[in-house]
Amino acid sequence: MNLKIYENYESLSHGAANQIIEVVRQKPCAVLCLAAGDTPRLAYTLMVNMAKTEGIDFAKCTFIGLDEWLGISPVNEGSCHHFLRRHIFEPLSISNDKIHLFDALTEDPQGECRKMDKTIIENKGIDLMLVGIGMNGHIGFNEPAGSFQAYSHVVELDETSRTVGQKYFREQTTLTSGITLGLGHMLEARQVILVANGSKKADIIRRTIEEDVTPLLPASLIRNHVDAYVILDKEAGSLLTPR
Ligand code: F6R
Repeated sequence: MNLKIYENYESLSHGAANQIIEVVRQKPCAVLCLAAGDTPRLAYTLMVNMAKTEGIDFAKCTFIGLDEWLGISPVNEGSCHHFLRRHIFEPLSISNDKIHLFDALTEDPQGECRKMDKTIIENKGIDLMLVGIGMNGHIGFNEPAGSFQAYSHVVELDETSRTVGQKYFREQTTLTSGITLGLGHMLEARQVILVANGSKKADIIRRTIEEDVTPLLPASLIRNHVDAYVILDKEAGSLLTPR
C-alpha cells in the first residue's frame, strides 16, 4: 500500500485527479468505479477540467457505480446517482451505455446485484476504483462487522452511516439500507485509491493503517491490495505514527 500525505485538501484533490487522468491516458477504455461523497468532489472537478484542457477523452471509459441508498430516487440530490451525473457524467458528456449504476428503486435488489456482478465480469474487471472512507471505516456500503461479502450485496446500514448520510440530503431522509459492490471487487480492481481529508477522519485513518486488517474495519482490507494508494491531507494523516 502506498501512502501519500498532501499539505491540504486542494493538493490532495490535484493528486487524486492526476492519478485518474493517468489511468485514462494509458488506457482510454478503462473501467472506472468512482465513489460519490464530499471527499472526492473537488478531485472530480479538477479531473473534468484537466480532461478538457489536456484533451483526455473519457468517452470510451466504462463507469461502474460503487453503491447507492436503496429506495432513493436517482433524481434526489442526495443519491450517488445524482452526484455522479452532476460531477462526472454530464460535464464529460458520457453516454448512457457506458454507465452502469445500481437501480435503487428496483423491486429485485438481489437481481440488481447479480446484474452488476455480471456487468463487471463482462467488462473484464475494474481498472481503477476510487473510494472514500466512512466515519465507521466503511468502503462503499461495506459496513463494519455486518456481512462481509465479496461481491454486490444489499446491506442494512449501520447507525453511523444513517446519521452521517443525512448531510447529502436537503431534508431529513429515512436511510435504512444500501446496495453496494463488495470488498472482493475492491481487492480485484487493478488499482485502488482511497481518499480522506480533514481531522474528523484522522482516527479512522489511523485505525485503518495501523491496526489489524479485519472485516470489522472494512477499509483496512485495502492493505491487502497489490496496487493501492491511500491519499490524505495532513489533517486526516495527523494521528499516524511518524515514519
Ligand atoms: C459514497 C461511498 C461512501 C463514501 C464515504 C465517505 O459513494 O461509497 O462510502 O465514500 O461515506 O463519504 P464522504 O466523502 O462524504 O466523507
